[in-house]
Amino acid sequence: PRSIFFSRHGESQYNLEGKIGGDSLLSTRGMQYAKALPALITDNIGDKPLTVWTSTLKRTIQTAQYLSFPKLTWKSLDELDAGVCDAMTYEEIEQAYPDDYANRDEDKFNYRYRGGESYRDVVVRLEPVIMELERQENILIIGHQAILRCLYGYFHHISQADLPYIKIPLHTVIKLTPKAYGCDEERYTLPI
Ligand code: F6P
Repeated sequence: PRSIFFSRHGESQYNLEGKIGGDSLLSTRGMQYAKALPALITDNIGDKPLTVWTSTLKRTIQTAQYLSFPKLTWKSLDELDAGVCDAMTYEEIEQAYPDDYANRDEDKFNYRYRGGESYRDVVVRLEPVIMELERQENILIIGHQAILRCLYGYFHHISQADLPYIKIPLHTVIKLTPKAYGCDEERYTLPI
């Protein structure tokens, strides 16, 4: 059976600062994750073929850098665009745009950032990625929190309302093995 692996990028500089979006580099811990990832994946997949998909953002490309598998970069895998709120902390957003902040809490799936995207928008832009995922064999996606929520939600049939709250922790590989009905799942967390 083929497997689909999901991982967020290693901890980034913005993760440390509590800022959303951006295109920051990995932190020291994030780099440790990148270095530990090849052994975890190789232990799991053995000598079977695998392709690694990343976004166009530096933190996913950096996380993939030590993996010696064919790689593909997808613009459609870039993190949810937070528009005018890009590079802000949640506290700063609440201060600057209190109504928006409340609206997002009210309906996180449909809330669209000013000049940016909603989870609904992301689900639409991921359609070609999902189509390709359905045709492929073993794939490792090194992605972002909102993006992986949408992909994970697709394979596990999670409702739109619950999707933006799925827990996709850092430094964890989620392995999905699609079955006739549903998906088996395993998680591997690296102690970094
Ligand atoms: O904080 C990391 C991050 O990937 C941000 O770039 C992104 O805006 C956010 O998570 C998505 O999570 P939420 O939809 O819960 O704000």
